[in-house]
Amino acid sequence: MVEKDAVRRGYDGLAEAYAADRSEDGLGTEVLAQFLGDLPESAHVLDAGCGQGTPVLRDLTASATATGVDISRAQLELAAESVPDAALAQGDMAALPFRDGVFDAAIAYHSLIHVPKGHHQDVVDEFARVLTDDGRLLVSEGPTEWSGANPDWLDTGVEMQWHIAGVAATRDHLRNAGFVVEREWNTPESVDKEDERWVFLSARVADDD
Ligand SMILES: C[S@@+](CC[C@H](N)C(=O)[O-])C[C@H]1O[C@@H](n2cnc3c(N)ncnc32)[C@H](O)[C@@H]1O
Repeated sequence: MVEKDAVRRGYDGLAEAYAADRSEDGLGTEVLAQFLGDLPESAHVLDAGCGQGTPVLRDLTASATATGVDISRAQLELAAESVPDAALAQGDMAALPFRDGVFDAAIAYHSLIHVPKGHHQDVVDEFARVLTDDGRLLVSEGPTEWSGANPDWLDTGVEMQWHIAGVAATRDHLRNAGFVVEREWNTPESVDKEDERWVFLSARVADDD
């Protein structure tokens, strides 16, 4: 698919620049810490769109089993350096290369926002498939729908695309896939970017009973 190739090529071309620019001073880091803190110590966690391996894979407890998946080879090479103990796989979040029911939790931190809109439901369905019966999910999304591209992102001369479904559509995708949304946070990207906001949704695979 043309849009996915553009995102993969983009991250292959600017992986180092993205890692250098990645801010961790926003409330997203606190949301992630809360989510990880609620997981069992030995949880098997999937970081979907793991990028350079930070912050998710890096912040897992030593007893957790960490698996990262990303579409970009260059991003995975950085993740292998920063989190040598994590299992890493190159793949597409919309067709995860894992068996059913093998993860206790999955996290998509700023990665679903790059998936072409027609595939957001596929991604969320895949999360439901690979999670255990009581599995937990954390995703970040934009507050409202937006698609666009930057031909020179981070001054690299490399194009990047975003396909943000917005929080209302994402709630629907989660419910359609059988998740119950447990909590939402609306946070600024960083302390000095109050108007650039992200929504984090935590959800649980619904009990069938
Ligand atoms: C903004 S980076 C986020 C990286 C990291 N999770 C973080 O919080 O900094 C988005 C990552 O999602 C990956 N990605 C985008 N679309 C993907 C897809 N369809 N399947 C797997 N990974 C994807 C990109 O290659 C990139 O590494």
